[in-house]
Amino acid sequence: MEADITLTVDGRDCALRVDTRTTLLDALREHLRNTAPKKGCDHGQCGSCTVLLAGRRVVSCLVLAAAADGAEVTTSAGLGDAEHPHPLQQAFLDHDGLQCGYCTPGQICSAAGMLDEAAAGWPSAATPPDEGADAAPALTAAEIRERMSGNLCRCGAYAGIVAAVEQAAASGAGGVHSGAAPQKGAR
Ligand code: FES
Ligand code: FES
Repeated sequence: MEADITLTVDGRDCALRVDTRTTLLDALREHLRNTAPKKGCDHGQCGSCTVLLAGRRVVSCLVLAAAADGAEVTTSAGLGDAEHPHPLQQAFLDHDGLQCGYCTPGQICSAAGMLDEAAAGWPSAATPPDEGADAAPALTAAEIRERMSGNLCRCGAYAGIVAAVEQAAASGAGGVHSGAAPQKGAR
């Protein structure tokens, strides 16, 4: 069974027909040729396919494209560009947070989502119980590691990744809306 859906991907409005079993990851990569999100495990375990769906991070291999009909999707390619990199993209470069780079788009989308979650006061398993639920928790290295734990890196670039997220968090400009504004109709 097929469905006609629309998505706004990195600021570009897209109409596509998909099999209702098609994942958002496959719709992005195979239908829209947006190869920023990577397919690692295809089972929700590695985080390499992470994108922002309506501003929240999701593993796109576990979302059906038809269920995302009408939604705004931001991939790492939509967070910034070569001239105006997102603070997280710049921080990953500054701190060598990538080796092969395969996990990097998912790491950056996940970090953008988690910085917004932390700023909104969402606690993690690493948040001390005495920190109030409504206050933004301090983004210690332990907090960053816990919040990024769904994103695996086979190269072991974790030390650089933590340093990069710390830099973006300290700049106060690391969340979803900190990069170049996606251009309507542009890719
Ligand atoms: S490809 Fe989606 S979590 Fe691994
Ligand atoms: S940099 Fe190679 S998998 Fe992460």
